[in-house]
Amino acid sequence: MSDFSARLIRWQRRHGRHKLPWQGADAYRVWLSEIMLQQTQVATATPYYLRFVARFPDVSALAAASEDEVLAHWSGLGYYSRARNLHRAAQIIMRQRGGRFPENFDDILALPGVGRSTAAAIGVFAFQQRRAILDGNVKRVLARYFAVAGYTGEKKIEAQLWRKAEGLLPEQDLAGYTQGLMDLGALVCTRGKPQCAVCPLHEECAAYRNGQVMQLPTPRARKALPEKHSTFLLLLNGADILLEKRPATGIWGGLWCLPQMDGAPGKDHCGIRQYGVDAAQAHALPAFTHTFTHFRLHITPLLWRLPVKPGQSQEPAKVWLCVEEAMRAAIPSPVRKLLHQITV
Ligand code: ADE
Repeated sequence: MSDFSARLIRWQRRHGRHKLPWQGADAYRVWLSEIMLQQTQVATATPYYLRFVARFPDVSALAAASEDEVLAHWSGLGYYSRARNLHRAAQIIMRQRGGRFPENFDDILALPGVGRSTAAAIGVFAFQQRRAILDGNVKRVLARYFAVAGYTGEKKIEAQLWRKAEGLLPEQDLAGYTQGLMDLGALVCTRGKPQCAVCPLHEECAAYRNGQVMQLPTPRARKALPEKHSTFLLLLNGADILLEKRPATGIWGGLWCLPQMDGAPGKDHCGIRQYGVDAAQAHALPAFTHTFTHFRLHITPLLWRLPVKPGQSQEPAKVWLCVEEAMRAAIPSPVRKLLHQITV
């Protein structure tokens, strides 16, 4: 066994994470955990994971649920295409495999929402396969260990790191090794405050030797994120608030949101009239910004307390819900934040 894998496995046994709720679980739970952990830290994902498996204990329960309910259990985690893909994948597994989670690597990889690294992690943890992973944390560990310069999202650099990752695989204890890589990336070889003094790999780490730890991995040449503006309408009638379902695709696809008008504040939102309210009579709540991967959204919330529900729409994509119930629905974080504000 190479020094790299031997040291990592030994370190994982003593210092790694051993009581995560999906460790040693069935393939369904391993899959779910890997999807949740794609863009989310363990501490944030864990309570979501526990609620999710309590409500959807297996592929069949997930496949039978409505998308709305699945999204409600994802509400606040972000990157909602992960939840829609999970739901779709569960239905495919029911239809094509009678509910049995696929074991073959290419079949796992074919599931919607599962990329090469996620398929490998599932293969390792659920089926004891010998596969290499390369998520964001592992890219950082390897870029430092081998002093690989260049943005790790770039195809050429990524291909180079995949080759390194494959080359380092031990013959045995793939689960301990893979968990070790994840734990080292999350706990020791962190982006901002790497703890090189306690790293089991620092002696052979090229970035450590060259004094390049803080320069690697090379950050992406960042363009400023585009800025967008939107006005969110809080239409209240007693304890009820109007929500609208977003179209199935795009940002917040399928989630329940406040009616919104795009464009900078002060713009003449003639669309507001369709809700039977007058912009001049709105209460302005404090504006705030929500940052997505690809843009920043400046949100101006306007609130009306209405004596009657205006122009009851028959559209199924609109619903009046009492605010408490709305908090339990599939809503994105900025909407939750606003609902919270108006209940305190
Ligand atoms: N990040 C991605 N997968 C993980 C896992 N199984 N345990 C801890 N962190 C992870």
